[in-house]
Amino acid sequence: MAERHVKVGIVGAGPAGLLLSHLLHLAGISSIVIEARSRAHIEGRIRAGVLEQGTVDVLRETGVGTRMDAEGLLHHGTILKFAGEARRIDFQDLVGKSVMVYGQHEVVKDLVAARLAAGGEIVFEVADTRIEGIEGSEPKIHYTHEGRARTIACDFVAGCDGFHGISRAAIPADVLRVYERVYPFGWLGILARTPPASEELIYARHDRGFALLSMRSPEISRLYLQCPPDEDVALWPDERIWEELQVRLAGGEGWRLEEGEIVQKGVTAMRSFVAEPMRHGRLFLAGDAAHIVPPTGAKGMNLAVGDVQVLARALEIYYASGRERALEAYSDTCLRRIWAVQRFSWWMTQMLHTFDDASAFDRRRQLAELDYVTTSRAAMTTLAENYVGLPLDRGPQ
Ligand code: FAD
Ligand code: DHB
Repeated sequence: MAERHVKVGIVGAGPAGLLLSHLLHLAGISSIVIEARSRAHIEGRIRAGVLEQGTVDVLRETGVGTRMDAEGLLHHGTILKFAGEARRIDFQDLVGKSVMVYGQHEVVKDLVAARLAAGGEIVFEVADTRIEGIEGSEPKIHYTHEGRARTIACDFVAGCDGFHGISRAAIPADVLRVYERVYPFGWLGILARTPPASEELIYARHDRGFALLSMRSPEISRLYLQCPPDEDVALWPDERIWEELQVRLAGGEGWRLEEGEIVQKGVTAMRSFVAEPMRHGRLFLAGDAAHIVPPTGAKGMNLAVGDVQVLARALEIYYASGRERALEAYSDTCLRRIWAVQRFSWWMTQMLHTFDDASAFDRRRQLAELDYVTTSRAAMTTLAENYVGLPLDRGPQ
């Protein structure tokens, strides 16, 4: 069995694993990334689309922001629609920051290209991944690749393998605490070949359910509809999708949603989830492996990017000085921000979705909340500062 050694073994080539590997490379720390799926699969996987200012900054500062700056769409505000009215939240005016609309799969492509160009190693299409010895000083990652068993011995393992990965389960059950809320709805996500009907994102609360208008380019719209969590996509022929979007997104001056060819559709269930602690021995969890947010605040990928910045910095300190304080603080440092973002994502979700068991009182309260959050400068500022991204605490230095 072939065995080799790297400083950090990274499981998963999503945004968390790839950016971690990139940041470690810049700090002169060796790593290897193993990934269950193919390169084509991870580069074509349509997921999140909104980058916080801090995410934009780190990609730019570390040399992987060129295409993002050329092709991404800078947004200075967003629109909330409810009761037939459109109201704008002006991020620039309120907090002096913006977000970038740029697909997660584009970030993944940029990171893969940067890693490979720098001689970095990403092993695609691995199977049977297993982590061993995280309580000792030389943990191992076992996997098979092209039918052969392989082992990587490392100083540290980074579990960046998403919610359905194997890393989280390597932490003993009596150590791991899990906090979870499952929502009674999901999102039907649609990619359509039609120019976005608005220059900015529209988050719409409607009695028939939430709808979101987003985009990927001046020619491609990304749209979402609230639906049952286990919805069969076959129940949503294109005509039904457009009809529902026209109704839920209607309202406001000069509104018109141009219909076009739907090139992709899929349903995502929604949950809030946090696993604590995010470190056990020499295993560190980052991104969706440790936490999930409902997508209403556009935070999933941004949280993953935050985690690995903290982790990369802590490893850099460790290798430069032998000090372990930052590594020891990793979980607490990340969790503080994660819970703040959990709160925001839950809050956006409960304000904008319809709940089957909601009473007439709940509906009026929801509308009052939307009215408040789009008229009070204090409330608008709260939304804006969370949406563009809370500051990142990198922990003890
Ligand atoms: P991931 O991107 O999930 O990456 C984990 C990687 O690990 C994957 O490539 C996986 O193949 C790999 N892996 C898993 N198991 C193993 C194994 N055993 N061995 C090796 N590799 C393994 N967020 C939003 O803000 N807005 C959205 O609209 C949105 N839509 C989403 C739609 C879907 C279907 C999903 C699943 C997520 C969505 N998210 C969205 C969340 C966002 O995409 C995630 O938060 C983000 O991908 C987290 O990055 P990550 O690197 O932690 O995990
Ligand atoms: C997108 C996804 C989100 O979850 C969100 O809140 C805003 C935009 C998107 O895919 O563009």
